[in-house]
Amino acid sequence: MKQPEDLQPVVLNQNAEVVLSKRYYRKGPDGEPLEDATGLFWRVASAIAAEEGKYPDSSCRADELAREFYDLMTSWKFLPNSPTLMNAGTDLGQLAACFVLPVGDSIEEIFDAVKHAAMIHKSGGGTGFSFSRLRPAASRVGSTGGVASGPLSFLRIFNTATEQIKQGGTRRGANMGILRVDHPDILEFIRAKEREGEFNNFNLSVALTEDFMKAVEKGEEYPLMAPHSGEAKGTLNAREVFEILVQKAWESGDPGIVFIDRINRDNPTPAQGEMESTNPCGEQPLLPYEACNLGSVNLAGLYLAGHGSTADSIDWAELKRIIRLSVRFLDNVIDASRYPLDRITETVHRNRKIGLGVMGWADLLFQLRIPYDSQDAVKLAGRVMEFIRAEGRAASKQLAKERGPFPAYAESVFGQRDLGPYRNATITTIAPTGTLSILAGCSSGVEPLFALSFARHVMDGERLVEVNPYFEQALKDEQCYSEKLMEAVTQKGSVQTMEHLPQHMRDVFVTAMDIEPVWHLKMQAAFQEYTDNAVSKTVNLPNSATIDDIRSIYWMAYERGCKGVTVYRDGCKQSQVLCTGDGE
Ligand code: CDP
Repeated sequence: MKQPEDLQPVVLNQNAEVVLSKRYYRKGPDGEPLEDATGLFWRVASAIAAEEGKYPDSSCRADELAREFYDLMTSWKFLPNSPTLMNAGTDLGQLAACFVLPVGDSIEEIFDAVKHAAMIHKSGGGTGFSFSRLRPAASRVGSTGGVASGPLSFLRIFNTATEQIKQGGTRRGANMGILRVDHPDILEFIRAKEREGEFNNFNLSVALTEDFMKAVEKGEEYPLMAPHSGEAKGTLNAREVFEILVQKAWESGDPGIVFIDRINRDNPTPAQGEMESTNPCGEQPLLPYEACNLGSVNLAGLYLAGHGSTADSIDWAELKRIIRLSVRFLDNVIDASRYPLDRITETVHRNRKIGLGVMGWADLLFQLRIPYDSQDAVKLAGRVMEFIRAEGRAASKQLAKERGPFPAYAESVFGQRDLGPYRNATITTIAPTGTLSILAGCSSGVEPLFALSFARHVMDGERLVEVNPYFEQALKDEQCYSEKLMEAVTQKGSVQTMEHLPQHMRDVFVTAMDIEPVWHLKMQAAFQEYTDNAVSKTVNLPNSATIDDIRSIYWMAYERGCKGVTVYRDGCKQSQVLCTGDGE
């Protein structure tokens, strides 16, 4: 589709300009950009809208839809995940951020997975693996009579391979490594990141079972099992294992935890097998050889000023319009994307999972003057996500009418319970939106702000300073604004100790570190309740957080119905992505 001359030019914030030109613009052989922001968003909008042509009963015209998609993205109301922005309408054409690959218990299968991961990383996608099927270290290898080296030694190979492949020449590949808690090598896995820098291309999570959690509760032993032979391999004390897990997470942030039985309870297509892993950041459980593309609605832009009640201050009608359009966009992405393996194409086309989520949540709360750590915020989270899920499902139903349900619909839980038909086996996921939130200039995902003013280290050591615009405006409105104050806030990140600021300001403008861990969990659980897949959430903690804090966070995640959780204690690693002034 030819780029129309009357497209509204894109207005970029300063950080977006840097990110787009370093990573996203298509470049020629000399490294010079071949497009600008208008060109990029038209390339994406037109490539995704062109998919309408495949469907004779489509209710949309591709050229009109391309303009709508363009306006939707360039008004920063919705953005698809990074690979879609980078690769739509290009020769590469791989548009999904999330993949899960199986790792089988043979040298051939292991190295197939290494190769497939390399192909995915090259295209900008992240990969998740379960290593639970690998025989434990020191078990016999039939073909040679030797002994196996176990999941950890193979994990190292995946890590090294990742190191060597920069994603699409732009970002390094991200991985999730999962091991079941009943695997005989579990203690080694839990301790894998003891030395800083080890396995640094991996997030590690232990897959906890319901049986294990019950054994922790009762202080009992639980059985280990060799996956390749089904042989019992002794027992461990569940509480002791849980304690080591908590200790290691306190030390380094890893491993996180996923509740694997819960993930499978919500598996929409159990006839196709179990889900054993998630994508790198944990928000997207998938079947082996499955991929998913994500997209996020920017809630920060939906605030309506001058309305009395909270409910009236959110533009629900606009949110509905955005959701309808976004679901169509994400469904088209499935067809527009070229996947690196036929097996992946088949699985993706069978289930047609998409993951629509949100960003800018903390910014919306700032505008509404609702503290993140309050019951009002938690209630609103549920209300917003319930709305998104309902409207997302309605949009998917509409698409099923035009295009047919996802091919595995009849065998899925929806088909079995006669709930559909839907076009997509899953519709909602809450992503971290690490880069998307920079482009849209909003707070990331459903996270509270890391700091009200902070330095961001991105690519090549570059440092971007950011002051939250809603905080700045509120200071001006309350006549509290001064350069001196702003300097102090950049140093501290938080205003909690600034007693000259009115209490209501300190209550509303809270950061991740100011919030009691329980509120992080309550918020995650509120969003999870209405999310088909999972919620990306890191419980960020001050350096002073204790091992008891981590234990209670992991336990609360279990009790509150989360699918997993990750913690990060400020300063526990020498290099970290986000720093407040004090941290530098
Ligand atoms: O904001 P953006 O679309 O770049 O990504 P995100 O929402 O922060 O992360 C979504 C997913 O993209 C992650 O869970 C990974 O599956 C993948 N990802 C990756 O593969 N490599 C990265 N460096 C960042 C994200």
